[in-house]
Amino acid sequence: MAFDLTIRNGRISNADATFEADIGIQQGRITAIAPGLPPGREDVDATGRWVLPGGIDSHCHIEQLSGMGVMCADDFYSGTVSAAFGGTTTILSFAAQHRNDSIPEVLADYHRRAAEKAVIDYGFHLILTHPDEQALREHLPRAVRDGISSLKVYMTYDRLKLDDYQLLDVMDTAGELGALVMMHAENHDMIRWVAHRLLERGHTAPRFHAVAHDALAETEATHRAIALARLIDVPVLIVHVAGRETVDVIRAAQKLGAPVLAESCPQYLFLEARNSDLAGMEGAKFCCSPPPRDADSQQAVWQGLLDGTLGVFSSDHAPYRFDASGKLPKGEATTFKEMANGVPGIELRLPLLFSEGVMSGRMSIEQFVALTATNHARLYGLAPRKGSIAVGADADIALWDPQRVVEVSAGLLHDNVGYTPYEGRRITGWPTMVFSRGRYVVRDGELLAARGSGEFIPRGRPGVLRTAASCARRGEFSELLGLKPACGCDHPD
Ligand code: URP
Ligand code: ZN
Ligand code: ZN
Repeated sequence: MAFDLTIRNGRISNADATFEADIGIQQGRITAIAPGLPPGREDVDATGRWVLPGGIDSHCHIEQLSGMGVMCADDFYSGTVSAAFGGTTTILSFAAQHRNDSIPEVLADYHRRAAEKAVIDYGFHLILTHPDEQALREHLPRAVRDGISSLKVYMTYDRLKLDDYQLLDVMDTAGELGALVMMHAENHDMIRWVAHRLLERGHTAPRFHAVAHDALAETEATHRAIALARLIDVPVLIVHVAGRETVDVIRAAQKLGAPVLAESCPQYLFLEARNSDLAGMEGAKFCCSPPPRDADSQQAVWQGLLDGTLGVFSSDHAPYRFDASGKLPKGEATTFKEMANGVPGIELRLPLLFSEGVMSGRMSIEQFVALTATNHARLYGLAPRKGSIAVGADADIALWDPQRVVEVSAGLLHDNVGYTPYEGRRITGWPTMVFSRGRYVVRDGELLAARGSGEFIPRGRPGVLRTAASCARRGEFSELLGLKPACGCDHPD
């Protein structure tokens, strides 16, 4: 059977190797990788291009109510279009339960909205805020069976926060079910206490957001989350790591063999707290939680990404407009406690890291692929279908022009935010063609995918829960407490 599409003469990089070959695609899957493949019904010449797996963004907020009850600026159309223009072909966004929501209804609602609008493939993590018996015994097992094999829990935000007892309950259940727990780790009361003092003293400007969310609040909560994970031997993934001490705590725990994984994001490599120290409300454009910190923490995050302490690089795209719908509910009188938290980044995540990581010589192209696609697929149960250029995998592929220089401006981007914290930055290297399951999504600046053409990808057991290292739920403590293994095996000791 002839190929539907061949991509020729490109330099292909996966997480483990770079080589030159043609790629043959049939019915959305890669069916051949070899030099000199016969012509397809359509041939794409990739001479001078780097041919990479489409990016996977495993942390983005799309068409979701925030922890403060604010609707994101991007829906599943603008969010996925923006992702695709930046070289991403799969997103894992959040389906958020707010306290009294029914989990099945929440999931059905996100499924319906995404199916109508997404232009690339997608999956969901469940945000769990009310872990009662029914949620833990009935709804979570059903969600995992239906391919939602990860969930996010929060240690802060009044409307989302769980206490340590609840976190243990959720982690224990997730361990039994083979679901991965993502943790937003910041100490709620430290933030609350400092914020209260600041506001009392009239310090309301955006720059005080970073003061209220001190690095110690992140480090303390991360340490506590790891202790909870170690207590019952259930893996935990610390999301959006910002500060040097937090990287150090995670690295030390990993050295002890603790089941802890971690993620960081562009804002922690390319922004600093001082960016939010601007006149008026401008600084709000740079505020997210945890906040970007300083040059020393940026260095620590780079190092963590390079040495594997931080295994995934996601956007934490949290899009809010610079108006009453998002950052400025009370206009110029908005305090740092009232503005929506989050920065956009779904489109620039890959170009920023490609430019400052690969083109500047900090990381290899294979590391780039691992951090932006392959590790996400393995960790979150999307592999082998997604995350690599391999026979049998979905033909999710991005062609990158390593010579193309782009000056970032909000007008260039396809999200619905209206500004970018990276305005004016020069980027070298840009994705010029993006394919999802063998069909064009983006070609030379033009969107070719139809609204609703993205598909829900049910996910299997996250990679970390399949490894021997996570089989440690045994021994007297586990037996006494009746803890079941997180890896799904029956532990013949
Ligand atoms: O400020 C952020 N990161 N907003 C999005 C919500 C979250 O905690 O990830
Ligand atoms: Zn978070
Ligand atoms: Zn987030």
